[in-house]
Amino acid sequence: MRIDIITVLPELLKSPFEASILKRAIEAGLVEVHFHNLRDYTSDNYKSIDDTQFGGGAGMVMMVEPIDKCISALKSERAYDDIIYMTPDGETLKQGIANQLSLKENIIILCGHYKGVDQRVRDMFITREISIGDYVLSGGELGAAVLCDAVIRLIPGVLGNETSALTDSFQDNLLAPPIYTKPRDYKGYKVPELLFSGNLPKIEKWREEQAYLRTKERRPDLLED
Ligand code: ADE
Repeated sequence: MRIDIITVLPELLKSPFEASILKRAIEAGLVEVHFHNLRDYTSDNYKSIDDTQFGGGAGMVMMVEPIDKCISALKSERAYDDIIYMTPDGETLKQGIANQLSLKENIIILCGHYKGVDQRVRDMFITREISIGDYVLSGGELGAAVLCDAVIRLIPGVLGNETSALTDSFQDNLLAPPIYTKPRDYKGYKVPELLFSGNLPKIEKWREEQAYLRTKERRPDLLED
């Protein structure tokens, strides 16, 4: 998979890709992540990427032309499955979206700033708009990092134990059950006896029940979907 990220603040985005699982995925060649600084696609001396709103109103708007130049340059090199715009008014990121995107070959992620992009960018290029939650960030970069993390860990081969993504919270619309490791007894807080029984079907059934109970208690909305 190849991910091209268009941003005015590449330095804000780089560190999540320089540690742990994402770093290993890149080093193993399972994913390529490229950053494109929008200012490299400007045509004036000031390297302007934004301007005031037509019709008046507070806040600057990102202009079409630099974004067009950047996206068009990328599209001339290869075909893209999706061109995603990170925006608080997009569809809310859910595990299902991450699952879908992890199967794509090439995607572009455009990070918005200020008030956002000229509507014509959305009309001309964007195939999908994603929000990471109902709050406003100062730019799309942190949202893009969250999206990339959620997607990249699902690419086959990225997680050491292939089954571990399957047992994550949300994969069956259920939260994950409680988990334990050594010691068996910590200051009187004990691990459930059943987990030492060796009875795998029974343990599996217990985990399913716990996942259901936890979901019912914390996120009943997930059980309605
Ligand atoms: N840009 C600003 N706020 C955002 C959000 N909640 N999700 C994605 N991109 C954003």
